[in-house]
Amino acid sequence: QIVHLADYRPTDFVLERVDLTFELDPTNTKVEARLIFHRREGVDPTAPLVLDGDELTLSGLLLDQNEVPTSQYDVTPEQLTVRDLPAESPFEITITTYINPEANTQLMGLYRTNGIYCTQCEAEGFRRITYFPDRPDVLAPYTVTIIGDKAANPVMLSNGNFLGGAGYDEGRAFAAWFDPHPKPSYLFALVTGDLGVVEDTFTTMSGNEVALKIYVEHGKEPRAAYAMDALKRSMKWDEERFGREYDLNIFQIVAVSDFNMGAMENKGLNVFNDKYVLADPETATDQDYANIEAIIAHEYFHNWTGNRITCRDWFQLCLKEGLTVYRDHEFSADMRSRPVKRIAEVRHLKSEQFPEDAGPLAHPVRPTKYREINNFYTTTVYEKGSEVTRMIATLLGRDMFKKGMDLYFERHDGDAATVEDFVKCFEDASGRDLTQFSLWYHQAGTPLVTASSSYDQSSGTFTLSLEQMVPATPGQSTKDPMHIPLSFALILDNGSLATPEGVTGGEVTEDVLHLTERRQTFTFSGISSRPVLSLNRSFSAPINLHFDQTPADLAHIARHDTDLFARWQALTDLAMPNLMQAARDARDGKDVTCDPALIAALLEAAADETLEPAFRAQALTLPSEADIARELGSNNDPDAIHAGRTAVISAIAEAGEKSFVHLFETMKPEGAYAPDAESAGKRALRNIALSYLTYSEGSPARAAEAFASSDNMTDLAQALTLLAHRFPSSSEATSALASFLTRFDGNPLVIDKWFSIQATIPGADALSRVKSLMENPRFISTNPNRVRSLIGTYAFSNPTGFNRADGEGYRFLAEQILAIDAKNPQLAARILTSMRSWRSLEPQRADHARAALTTIERAANLSTDVRDIVERMLKG
Ligand code: ARG
Ligand code: ZN
Repeated sequence: QIVHLADYRPTDFVLERVDLTFELDPTNTKVEARLIFHRREGVDPTAPLVLDGDELTLSGLLLDQNEVPTSQYDVTPEQLTVRDLPAESPFEITITTYINPEANTQLMGLYRTNGIYCTQCEAEGFRRITYFPDRPDVLAPYTVTIIGDKAANPVMLSNGNFLGGAGYDEGRAFAAWFDPHPKPSYLFALVTGDLGVVEDTFTTMSGNEVALKIYVEHGKEPRAAYAMDALKRSMKWDEERFGREYDLNIFQIVAVSDFNMGAMENKGLNVFNDKYVLADPETATDQDYANIEAIIAHEYFHNWTGNRITCRDWFQLCLKEGLTVYRDHEFSADMRSRPVKRIAEVRHLKSEQFPEDAGPLAHPVRPTKYREINNFYTTTVYEKGSEVTRMIATLLGRDMFKKGMDLYFERHDGDAATVEDFVKCFEDASGRDLTQFSLWYHQAGTPLVTASSSYDQSSGTFTLSLEQMVPATPGQSTKDPMHIPLSFALILDNGSLATPEGVTGGEVTEDVLHLTERRQTFTFSGISSRPVLSLNRSFSAPINLHFDQTPADLAHIARHDTDLFARWQALTDLAMPNLMQAARDARDGKDVTCDPALIAALLEAAADETLEPAFRAQALTLPSEADIARELGSNNDPDAIHAGRTAVISAIAEAGEKSFVHLFETMKPEGAYAPDAESAGKRALRNIALSYLTYSEGSPARAAEAFASSDNMTDLAQALTLLAHRFPSSSEATSALASFLTRFDGNPLVIDKWFSIQATIPGADALSRVKSLMENPRFISTNPNRVRSLIGTYAFSNPTGFNRADGEGYRFLAEQILAIDAKNPQLAARILTSMRSWRSLEPQRADHARAALTTIERAANLSTDVRDIVERMLKG
């Protein structure tokens, strides 16, 4: 039941082509698959053909159009084995299955949602459609014929180029598609239904005109305009930055409202969660716009990194995901502010991936075993995978990195490749040995680097001692030293950067120190006065850094570093010890204090008009309660963390009230709403100022006024959040929630926000609120977005509400996980990971958490998805 990387071997049979015919019916869709195979050279001539299935019933089996006698095959819902096949010549297997899209609540394979037929095949959903060698290293061209009710399915789509379509018989129509690019089954897609479309074109760098189509529910077409714009910018950017051109005459996107994940890169036919397509000023926030831009780009970029070059097996998932996340990060950085984008990436990495790496679910970027592959679409594979790619670019420099990427595209186009293949391209392009660096793919856990430094005036030398330690993780008790690229600067008193005459103790390339040993001391000479070291600038390596810098040195970095990311990092480092102490003091019933130096540094950054507003907003946004919990590491009391952090915020709010009023009054972008990064930055700064003002003024009046006067969803949602979170029992909050509901009822993506805002109101009352929201008729338990917006948000993003000292939050979640699991295992397993840090809670809460997890573990009929997560969580 456990799959091991070491067991990989190629299939016995080579698949030459695939011909699929679907006769659509909501409960009884007929699928006929004609597959042409030949036996791979050198394979035992008696070896049978073994195909994967999942909940399938075989209703017909032909070999070269002749019925196969039952003695020649074995079949179960999970497997079809056919014996006595030709030793050498190609043969055709025709398989007929009937499937029930309406009953498919897992949303894997072919399912029906709101009258639309839709597929999701990654990772192993295709085997729910027909028996097939359902693995990523089996590539073939596909022809697809779709037959369905004409009136209900005016749109009939599949991968590749449209061949033709017309009336089929009375009442039914057909459409045929051919995808010439050999692809694995996980990239197959079919979508049909009555959908509206937005059309455009893109001319590629060699002059091919590509038809672009985005399909949405009728009436929602105007809300797809931004996605279309993002798509065209993505296509252009990939040509300019990576030399990648699109390769079919049509590119289509479909937005659906019931989808397990964000989106899916099916060849030529991307399927999206509509939350990442639909936007207009009235209903989408700045964050929604940024997400749409990033995810449209991500899926489009997969056309080369994922589709043209795919994965040999699912252990190689980061080959396409880590690399494609890196590419979409670079795209967003080019479209927006690079340092602000980097800050957002690092916040996300630290809040999602670091806890995963530090808890029972820790696994390497390239795992070596899995029980359920769906549970490995993780922030480690995606985000840490992206960081690893980014480090290759840092190690090699921009030009060598480009050379390596070009070589990768040239050498592996059409392949199902491995991480080793990828790394080899950079070694060959640069001549650099990346053996030690590759440990980043294989060793789980966030490395801890401890730094200490000294300056010697008489010799003009600056000495930096570094020590690295990679913590033990499940299944990996000892680790080897890693190759850690640390970007650095030595900042002098006047704020300029020192240029050392020489460095000894290890390799230094441009502004990067290469830490490769367990302990290493670098000595810089020719430094005329004591410098302040800024280390791991731009977050060049995804590590935890312990470096006891004085508040004065941190403030110096925050004021002078030329790397804006490092300035933000210094402010965070200044705030964190304060917030940790505040949590301890709150726990011990002591008064919480806030260092005036921290307040001064924050207010200075906030008021600095040479800095972009988006950056200043980031500077004012303190580490989250989850960030503080992670830094504290163990024995966590979320109530104390909340109380301590709230007291620190109040102190900053009091001291800075004048500045916050000023920012609130001046940071309103001119004119009508526009989603560009600059306007978004102003709104962000204005809204964080408003947030501080709710603390200093202690009244809902200003937020209520902002709610009433806002003309866009960013400001409206922020004002509503402040009213609900800061003044939950005020009449202002109650009436704002009610008017928001009335105004947006019938717009599911906005109603999701209405649920999320209430699910995250801090405090023990959150549970009863969540329970009563589940009784609301708008809570639809089969819609993944809605379930995530209420139950997921409560468990992931409401530390005090979920981690009740009496354990009721955990018991509630356990019940919900079991209910969700019965319908949609992937969704259940994902939400359950919200408990991944349970071992770092104080003992009483940890006991309650363990008990709740044990209840899940002991339940009957658990899916493999939930069983895998819960068992690792209890064991690791
Ligand atoms: N490949 C998709 C993407 O990253 C995500 C697919 C997620 N699949 C899953 N089984 N969780 O764009
Ligand atoms: Zn992806």
